[in-house]
Amino acid sequence: MRALPKVELHLHLEGAAPPGFIRSLAAEKHVDISGIFDANGAYAFNGFADFLRVYEAASSVLRSPEDYARLTAAVLEDLAGQSVIYAETFVCPALCGAGDLPAWRDHLAAMTEVSARVAAAGGPVLRGIATAIRHFGPERARAAALCAAETAGDWLVGFGMAGNETLGKAGDFAWAFDCAREAGLRLTCHAGEWAGPEAIRETIGALGVERIGHGLSAVRDPALVEMLAERGIVLEICPGSNIALGLCAGWAAHPIAKLRDAGVKVTISTDDPPFFRTTLTREYERLAEAFGWEEADFAALNRVAAEAAFCDAGTRDDILQQTGASR
Ligand code: ADE
Ligand code: ZN
Repeated sequence: MRALPKVELHLHLEGAAPPGFIRSLAAEKHVDISGIFDANGAYAFNGFADFLRVYEAASSVLRSPEDYARLTAAVLEDLAGQSVIYAETFVCPALCGAGDLPAWRDHLAAMTEVSARVAAAGGPVLRGIATAIRHFGPERARAAALCAAETAGDWLVGFGMAGNETLGKAGDFAWAFDCAREAGLRLTCHAGEWAGPEAIRETIGALGVERIGHGLSAVRDPALVEMLAERGIVLEICPGSNIALGLCAGWAAHPIAKLRDAGVKVTISTDDPPFFRTTLTREYERLAEAFGWEEADFAALNRVAAEAAFCDAGTRDDILQQTGASR
């Protein structure tokens, strides 16, 4: 499984930071964040709200373009170790430069430069999705969208929203998504992770996204499942994250297989791998055990992911070729 070429569409850059990386950056900057680790040095949290707190505390030590360059290099090295050939990563203008456009440009340039260097050396290809954070509110989402719109291009290919989806309505963020769409960015949004199927309908209706982050509550609404399948809306599913955060009782209880069998385009990602003590290989292995999926199933899932990637057509065709399916 480890050697199978993989495509990952849902990976938060700060959420992929190994705890040791964050600890050493905190030590360099003399910041005390010891409270977010357990006795073994792993991230420690209790439930979703606490996860967001720990996530933001860890992110608080990432303060400069150079920090983000180092983080991008570390994450790409981990992705290479999982045979990931292409990944899209969520990056937040609110965290990279506090919503300020010149600072965001500098952070983005640092991440882009490292990605280009790694890809040129035969490593994984990385693209960015600028992300608003829902619990920061619509005003800061607008600022994130403006940053994204100004820097849309070869590397920054999408716009999305993460954070606490139990706060506010999807429609409150329509201006930000419209702004990003007008700039040519492709759209995704976390929905149906903590909220029910109505939140997925609302997100698709109000924001016009083509992909949904998580979306697992769709399984409770057969008409919605049919609509997702018919419209080809892609779910970025992160089973290990859902299980670690207590949304599913275990691997066999995860709705990914039901959704796939119903014809929904599902993809597999890790969300925030060190927080959930997972890797993409581990996700594949657990899914293989739970549902009897074989290499051919994972290859097919990777083709779905490659086709749903927000990159340009040439890059997508390269990825498809590497996953064993040219068009
Ligand atoms: N940010 C990072 N991981 C997240 C998740 N699983 N849900 C919402 N926001 C997030
Ligand atoms: Zn996520």
